[in-house]
Amino acid sequence: MTMESSNCHAVLIALLILHHLTTYTGTCQASRLTPINTNNYTDYIKNSCNTTLYPQLCYKLLLKYTDKIQAHPKFLANTSIYVTFLAAKSTSVAMKNMSKSWSLSPGEAAALHDCMEETSDSIYEFQKSMKEMDHIGEGSNFELEMSNIQTWVSAALTDYDTCMDGFSGMKEGNVKSEVRKYIVNVSHLTSIALAFINNYAVVG
Ligand SMILES: *[C@@H]1O[C@H](CO)[C@@H](O)[C@H](O)[C@H]1NC(C)=O
Ligand SMILES: *[C@@H]1O[C@H](CO)[C@@H](O)[C@H](O)[C@H]1NC(C)=O
Ligand SMILES: *[C@@H]1O[C@H](CO)[C@@H](O)[C@H](O)[C@H]1NC(C)=O
Ligand SMILES: *[C@@H]1O[C@H](CO)[C@@H](O)[C@H](O)[C@H]1NC(C)=O
Ligand SMILES: *[C@@H]1O[C@H](CO)[C@@H](O)[C@H](O)[C@H]1NC(C)=O
Repeated sequence: MTMESSNCHAVLIALLILHHLTTYTGTCQASRLTPINTNNYTDYIKNSCNTTLYPQLCYKLLLKYTDKIQAHPKFLANTSIYVTFLAAKSTSVAMKNMSKSWSLSPGEAAALHDCMEETSDSIYEFQKSMKEMDHIGEGSNFELEMSNIQTWVSAALTDYDTCMDGFSGMKEGNVKSEVRKYIVNVSHLTSIALAFINNYAVVG
């Protein structure tokens, strides 16, 4: 007997007892039998992640925050900005470390220095966006506030493009590929955040 059919069996028995042995005529659909205590917010996050370009990365980062997000588009957007902000901060730390302890050509050093500035700009943009999120709903400027957040988070994506452009034409090497690894990751997170911000701007 499979797990599914055994669960169905248990439910049938429970139903039979509940209904004093009246005949149960419903079909047994295992998918509807959500166990008690299952966090049903998980589906909301998974469905939402499935609308982004990077569902796996999205689950990995957001499923930790089901309690915060629950099933609210606003908290989904805000939390996605927050995890992106954290990733940008670790990107910044990693770059600072590279600039201190790696041996770099002058070109690499200059490109890395610019990336550090662009990453720092993006961190500021995420901070501004979260602050704006905190004030949303207080006034009557929802559309303007959302448009500001969309602008700032899009600007972060541009910052990351500019960072990688600084390395274009340079030969592949440890620094370039290490920077790319971090920047691609944080760009993908930014794209996820932007998708949820755009969604919240529409659904309110
Ligand atoms: C999820 O849980 C909430 C609160 O416990 C409940 O109101 C809601 O009906 C549940 N949704 C589903 C699909 O089980
Ligand atoms: C999300 O997409 C995956 C892959 O296409 C699918 O297996 C999964 O059932 C979807 N999850 C939800 C909650 O829609
Ligand atoms: C992307 O960033 C997140 C958050 O900092 C981190 O947990 C994850 O491991 C990173 N993924 C890759 C592939 O570097
Ligand atoms: C800094 O870079 C060195 C050399 O690559 C590495 O061993 C160390 O783990 C890095 N430290 C941090 C905090 O990333
Ligand atoms: C957004 O997330 C941050 C970090 O968890 C939190 O401090 C802030 O209150 C949240 N804002 C909203 C509107 O949820």
